[in-house]
Amino acid sequence: MRAKILVARATFPDVIERLQQQFDVESNQEDKIFSAAELHEKMQGKDAVVITSSEKLSAEVIAANSHLKAICNVAVGYNNIDVAAASSAGIMVTNTPDVLNETTADYAWTLLMANARRVSESEHFLRAGEWKNWRFDQFLGADVHGATLGILGMGRIGQAIARRSMGFDMQVIYHNRSRLTPEQEAHANHARYVSKEELLRSADHLILVLPYSAQTHHIIGAAELALMKPTATLVNIARGGIVDDAALIAALREKRIASAGLDVYENEPALNPGFLTLSNVVLTPHIGSGSEKTRRAMADCASANLVAALSGVQPPNLINP
Ligand code: DGY
Repeated sequence: MRAKILVARATFPDVIERLQQQFDVESNQEDKIFSAAELHEKMQGKDAVVITSSEKLSAEVIAANSHLKAICNVAVGYNNIDVAAASSAGIMVTNTPDVLNETTADYAWTLLMANARRVSESEHFLRAGEWKNWRFDQFLGADVHGATLGILGMGRIGQAIARRSMGFDMQVIYHNRSRLTPEQEAHANHARYVSKEELLRSADHLILVLPYSAQTHHIIGAAELALMKPTATLVNIARGGIVDDAALIAALREKRIASAGLDVYENEPALNPGFLTLSNVVLTPHIGSGSEKTRRAMADCASANLVAALSGVQPPNLINP
């Protein structure tokens, strides 16, 4: 008998067609956003589900769907899934690491450069017809070249961000749960391991690349922002909840840091309205991994995990072996 699967969000049609060759697929190509109750209902009778970081699978939802064999997340981060509950229920959980490292690192740089050089703010000024003359002191920003780049969370994406800093003659400092090997540090533009406090104090610009968990919840709050340089840009391409959004809005409003580039938010897609009142922040809708090639690679990676899980083979990206 063919396995039954739910693909909870719209994806590339050819990916669905390939899955249909092997499985009975219920897809959601109209991309309706399911409530928790609708998702629960759709998972009835399914062997596996493919979800994205927008679908939250709590312990309660997982316990009510313990018939599932696999939950395949199309994302590297998996804080949307209660993995412990899935493990207790004997459900495999997979993610899509590596395929998005370089694209997401590119995007961290996009936000850093856009903020340091006030691209968004000056473009709004121009579009509003306010540009009357070249001025010596117009939209003066901070240099990126030659600066000290701080990276909090030095996994594969953090290291890809650090490598890119070589061309800008930057010094890299980082803090991470564990220190990289000397070879990895050398490869990451000779990144220097420092305490979190030194990172905050010394970085000219700081990029957050941490997974979200109870331990990293609000790891950047008012106290941490107070340690940063007033000329610094803060970039978050990781997960909302790492940063206390209310504290960040206050710091940006009072110019205690220069600017922020944000791709992720607490409670996204809802946005703290305070962000919209600020000109020194660039806001984008969680598109860090969003190149055509990488989103395809993520879909293919999730499909490969799904096929393996339902064929009795260990999926390549199993989180809970
Ligand atoms: C990821 O892969 O974790 C991206 O943030 C998309 O959710």
